Amino acid sequence: MGKKVRIADVDQVPEGTAAEFVAEDRIIALFHVDGQYYAMDGVCPHAGGPLGEGSLSGNVVTCPWHGWQFDVTTGQHCLNERLCHPTFPVTVEADGIYIELPEANSE
Ligand code: FES
Repeated sequence: MGKKVRIADVDQVPEGTAAEFVAEDRIIALFHVDGQYYAMDGVCPHAGGPLGEGSLSGNVVTCPWHGWQFDVTTGQHCLNERLCHPTFPVTVEADGIYIELPEANSE
C-alpha cells in the first residue's frame, strides 16, 4: 500500500492535456485522456526532460526535449519494449486528484 497524495484540482488538467506537478519530492506528469487521469514519473529517463510539458496525442506523450514517446496509460516506451517508465495509480475525489506513491522504503 502506497502513500496517497493530493496533486491537483480536477479542473487543472483539461481533457487531452498534460501538466507537471510536484508530489512529495517527486515530479509527476499528469495526463487527461478520454475522461481518465494517468500519472507518470515526470522526469524523462532519457536525459531528464519534463514529460508533463510534452505534447499529448491520444494516449501517447512526446518528450519535449528529444522526442521519446510513452504510452501514458502504461508507461511503456513506444519503440523500446524493455523500457517502461513508472506510473502511479490515480483516484479522483470530490476535493481533487490523488496519486498513490510507493512508500519510501518499498522502492
Ligand atoms: S530527455 Fe526526453 S527524450 Fe531526451
